[in-house]
Amino acid sequence: KTIALDHARVDKGGHRHFMAKEIAEQPMVIGNALRHYLTEAGDDIRLPGDMPDLGQVERLVLVACGTAYYACLTAKYWFEQLAGLPVDVDIASEFRYREPPLAPGTLAIFVSQSGETADTLAALRYCRDRVAGIVAVVNVEESTIARASDLALPIHAGAEIGVASTKAFTCQLTVLLLLALRAARARGRMDAARLADLLSALRGLPATLNTALEIDAPVREVARDLSAARSTLFLGRGLMYPLALEGALKLKEISYIHAEAYASGELKHGPIALIDETLPVIVMAPCDALFDKTVSNMQEVMARGGRIVLVSDAEGVEAAGGGTFRAITMPVTDPVLAPILYALPAQLIAYHTAIAKGTDVDQPRNLAKSVTVE
Ligand code: G6P
Repeated sequence: KTIALDHARVDKGGHRHFMAKEIAEQPMVIGNALRHYLTEAGDDIRLPGDMPDLGQVERLVLVACGTAYYACLTAKYWFEQLAGLPVDVDIASEFRYREPPLAPGTLAIFVSQSGETADTLAALRYCRDRVAGIVAVVNVEESTIARASDLALPIHAGAEIGVASTKAFTCQLTVLLLLALRAARARGRMDAARLADLLSALRGLPATLNTALEIDAPVREVARDLSAARSTLFLGRGLMYPLALEGALKLKEISYIHAEAYASGELKHGPIALIDETLPVIVMAPCDALFDKTVSNMQEVMARGGRIVLVSDAEGVEAAGGGTFRAITMPVTDPVLAPILYALPAQLIAYHTAIAKGTDVDQPRNLAKSVTVE
């Protein structure tokens, strides 16, 4: 069953597809979200309602489906690395039937664009009376999941019509990052100066996203090549691993090209057997602390004739040296914020590949925007 959307109310704003419009809107809607969650001066985080004290919480469990699940997986890295908070992440359809034991000091966070996904709602209901608190991160504020939670945190993305989620994903990431920063401060894991740095980088993010939206030409070239592929592999490490999963999901959803994502370090444990000149390998890797390791993974792929598409910043593209098949050069941001920025090329690669193939971008076959039954 799908939820009927009143498309007449929301137009494409001059774009060819809702998906293109929603990708282009990201600088604006992330700016909106930041305005809602930062103080007027932009120097501190403010959360609406009665947010449980993240300094007291012992454990987090994050549950969602689809793209929202990859937002949760990204958030796990943030909560663990920035706040030292243990995190379990699960797919709602697994969580609800596995019925995992939950420690009493657990805060459960459910992430859902629509707020109506049946499995996510069932997982939330399972947590009722088993956890210290239930927070929902939703786009639709009046949704069932929002109402069933103790506190609903809106992501302020505005109506998302394209079946493949784009701006809701980056807004989910923004709100989850702000929660992780708040937790980091509350747990004494981050000093005021580092928080100020990251908030300043976040305030600058809409402008950086605008710059990233201009990298159209190399993305179209990559997309032209990908549109002829039968299968593709996405690689990422650390914070870029969940994003590789999201990039592969986007490509599958709208271009129907098989795409699989792997943590770069797992390459040698299986997927390297697939590498030949017919398999494009998309590597998402800003020039961060893990970059050198990613370069060695790339060399392993290239030595076997694999065609690398490197998505990195100028320093990374330069450091990777010759031999990469194609490069998409991104602007620079703080590595902590990179998943939000690198979501754009992941979305644009999928979008332009689908255009090159001529598939229905906004209404991909067999998919529904909101899955309200199992
Ligand atoms: C469907 C949509 C996806 C979405 C997922 C979860 O599969 O096609 O884009 O990520 O549901 O939806 P939710 O509304 O819970 O975020």
